[in-house]
Amino acid sequence: MSQPYHINDTSKIFSPALVLFKDRLEANLDHLIQVAGSASRLRPHCKTHKIPQVTKIELAKGITKHKAATLAEVEMLAQAGATDIFLAYNLVGPNIGRTIAFLKKYPQVQFKATGDHPKPLAELSAALTAAGLSMEILVDINVGMNRTGVEPGPAALELYESLTRLPGISPGGLHVYDGHQQAADFAQRTAAIDVPWAKVMELVEAIKAKGWPLPRIVCGGTGSFPVYAAKPNPEIELSPGTLVFNDVGYTRMFPDLNFPPATVLLTRVVSRPAPDRMTLDLGNKAVASDQPFGKRLVMIDLPEAEQVGHNEEHLVLKTPLAANYAPGDELLAIPAHICPTTAWYKSVYVIENGDVVDQWDVVGRDRFLTI
Ligand SMILES: Cc1ncc(COP(=O)(O)O)c(C=O)c1O
Repeated sequence: MSQPYHINDTSKIFSPALVLFKDRLEANLDHLIQVAGSASRLRPHCKTHKIPQVTKIELAKGITKHKAATLAEVEMLAQAGATDIFLAYNLVGPNIGRTIAFLKKYPQVQFKATGDHPKPLAELSAALTAAGLSMEILVDINVGMNRTGVEPGPAALELYESLTRLPGISPGGLHVYDGHQQAADFAQRTAAIDVPWAKVMELVEAIKAKGWPLPRIVCGGTGSFPVYAAKPNPEIELSPGTLVFNDVGYTRMFPDLNFPPATVLLTRVVSRPAPDRMTLDLGNKAVASDQPFGKRLVMIDLPEAEQVGHNEEHLVLKTPLAANYAPGDELLAIPAHICPTTAWYKSVYVIENGDVVDQWDVVGRDRFLTI
């Protein structure tokens, strides 16, 4: 078993398994707070962990603001005790009715979401008004990722103005997500982020000049949050997600960010079909496969092993060291992309001082909880 991911007794861990080292999780959260400057400046994205117990640890560390990508994640956060929840997703179709149900069921939660188009916002406004409810909407700003949002400029100002007069809705600020900013060099990344940021600042000044409220600007993910952390604007909230667990993808991509992975995959050899081959129970239903074949994970103790086959329940490795392993032997791997990997697991095994102390359900992986 690899140091520092030591587990005293693996006999009751069913593989493939996602294993969480609690001390590393806590260290990553402390490090996040340190880079952010304070817990109050953070709004971590729960899509990486989707786990109520992790949310409770965040709350205990003074992190009171939370971000989500689905209504199930929002409800997981609310059930864990979060009261300031931002859904970084536009509400459309039946999710408008689900939002009304959520507001009624969890009145203690200050719930907000993004908007980037007048049509669903008008529908949301009508539904809120009919129910006698209200919520804040953040205008989603497209700073170059071209996934969602409105470019900073007159159209964004016009949409923001509409939030000041739509019944049931009030302006909640701006959402600025820039997952496309992936320069490895920190100075280059900062320079690239600062180009659209200048336009966001112009928009902020225009909103303030109109006298409209602008309570927050929710900014960035892993690569960009240290850049926004260094900015003086008091409205900025930082929303990294992956770093809570971290993975091999970001460890490679952003060498300036020292957050050792807190989660590993435990897998067992199930077959040795040829002298230089060994097959693990780590198929593409056990690790996220949004990364290219061959690059979806790193075997901690066999980093040179070539990944030559990947089926639903099998990972075939080619290595001259295969002769050293027999079926039943255990190995650990770190996924390239932890967030969708977490979603493959019903629960994670929790390790403290080398012992399995608990299993935590990945509650938010479902699309639907109760609303
Ligand atoms: C809108 C939004 N905010 C924040 C994050 C967190 O970013 P990261 O995973 O880079 O920490 C993501 C990630 O997908 C996201 O989509």
